[in-house]
Amino acid sequence: RTRIVQLYADIEQLGDTVVTVAGWVRSIRDMKNFGFVTLNDGSCFKDLQVVMNRGALGNYDEIAAMGVGSALVCTGTLALTPDRPQPFELQASSIVIEGASAPDYPMQKKRQTREFLRTQQHLRSRTNLFRAIFRVRSVAAAAIHSFFQERGFVYVNTPIITTSDAEGAGEMFRVTTLDVANPPLLEDGSVDWSQDFFGQAANLTVSGQLQAENFALSFGDVYTFGPTFRAENSNTRRHAAEFWMVEPEMAFCDLAGDMDCAEAMLKYVIGSVMDACPDEMAFFNKFVDKDLVERLTHVVTSDFARVSYTEAIKILQEAVDSGHDFEYPVDWGCDLQTEHERYLTEEHFGKPTFVTDYPAKIKAFYMRLNDDKKTVAAADCLVPGIGEIIGGSQREERLDVLERRITELGMSIDQYRTYLDLRRYGGCQHAGFGLGFERLVMYLTGVDNIRDVLPHPRTVGSADF
Ligand code: 4AD
Ligand code: MG
Repeated sequence: RTRIVQLYADIEQLGDTVVTVAGWVRSIRDMKNFGFVTLNDGSCFKDLQVVMNRGALGNYDEIAAMGVGSALVCTGTLALTPDRPQPFELQASSIVIEGASAPDYPMQKKRQTREFLRTQQHLRSRTNLFRAIFRVRSVAAAAIHSFFQERGFVYVNTPIITTSDAEGAGEMFRVTTLDVANPPLLEDGSVDWSQDFFGQAANLTVSGQLQAENFALSFGDVYTFGPTFRAENSNTRRHAAEFWMVEPEMAFCDLAGDMDCAEAMLKYVIGSVMDACPDEMAFFNKFVDKDLVERLTHVVTSDFARVSYTEAIKILQEAVDSGHDFEYPVDWGCDLQTEHERYLTEEHFGKPTFVTDYPAKIKAFYMRLNDDKKTVAAADCLVPGIGEIIGGSQREERLDVLERRITELGMSIDQYRTYLDLRRYGGCQHAGFGLGFERLVMYLTGVDNIRDVLPHPRTVGSADF
């Protein structure tokens, strides 16, 4: 079996030879004595045109009656067709039906809404749009590994089941081995969930950061890349209950170094995807977002903006003064809403923007307290169309300051013993960030809903299949 991508790559050698290609029917046209099957095998974005002649095929009528979506194995001579839009076609000498597709196949060759396609998780990856999205997703994942591996980072797999809450935000899914129908009870009659993971209270990880920090203090530079889970009930275009996160962590690194790494990584991944997926990018540019390629090209070749939270608030307040209408008020101390993030990166700076030094009150416990005692050494990267794509910070390496912060927030020192220990045995300045992988794929493709860049989205109201 030869894959279609190989035909395009090796057509000089393969022209006029006999090849076998297996794939799924995208359309069939029957002109009585001859006909055309458009086949795609998923190896690349391009289809193969298979020509069938009644005289050459014993099962011509059977093939001509095949439905869209059928799986066929086609053998024939690869004929060059230099004067036609597609450079070659397969003149079939045999077509074997591997699996017929029923007439109610939902992926007919017409444009369907993405809402409808979301209900077809098992089939939508056969459409042009979703083939393009998930190939880009795959190439972007490989590029992330290359970026860090080329720079000597160690890839560390962090646990999915954990007793700690890395963000301290209480947005965890509980993991339980208890008999839910018959749970153990406390003296007052309420359910005792504290024992649920073989005698401990455990949950699905919200972030691999704490364990990545641990490895950073052994290897220097490390990264995680894995699934994370958030039990936040946010039914938005950019929140999922299960998503993938890339989390580098670097010892002897400050916030500026952290941002340099994030910026270099984003540029590297964007450049790699544009190089490796020209057909997919051209498709997105035509059907999803007309400015995509131009915008991404500009991102790769220009510096990101960097602005402090305090300056960002001033910019937003000036926007309000000159008549811009935000839904949420803007005051120093408020968390930036998506509309504020998008104003900054889209309207004001017109490019990816780091916002730094947020108020401590609205950020996680592990971020390093600045000398002003009000702000922390945090940096979020905001991009046009999406808002926050990366959240990062320099970590609090001072044991006493960190303990005080954990206590102030009403969190349990005991739960963070191991993490605090890292500050007692050769702690050092260190920093890292988390890139929401789906948000990156949205940015790369112009697709505006996280449900369409997750192969099988788990979002509020959806965990099917
Ligand atoms: O800003 P967050 O919560 O930061 C952390 O988890 C840190 N521990 C990262 C670190 O410093 N190692 O999440 C990081 C990124 C966000 O910027 C966003 O892109 C993505 O993860 N993210 C989500 N993506 C999809 N659905 C959700 N519910 C997400 N929550 C966060
Ligand atoms: Mg964040």
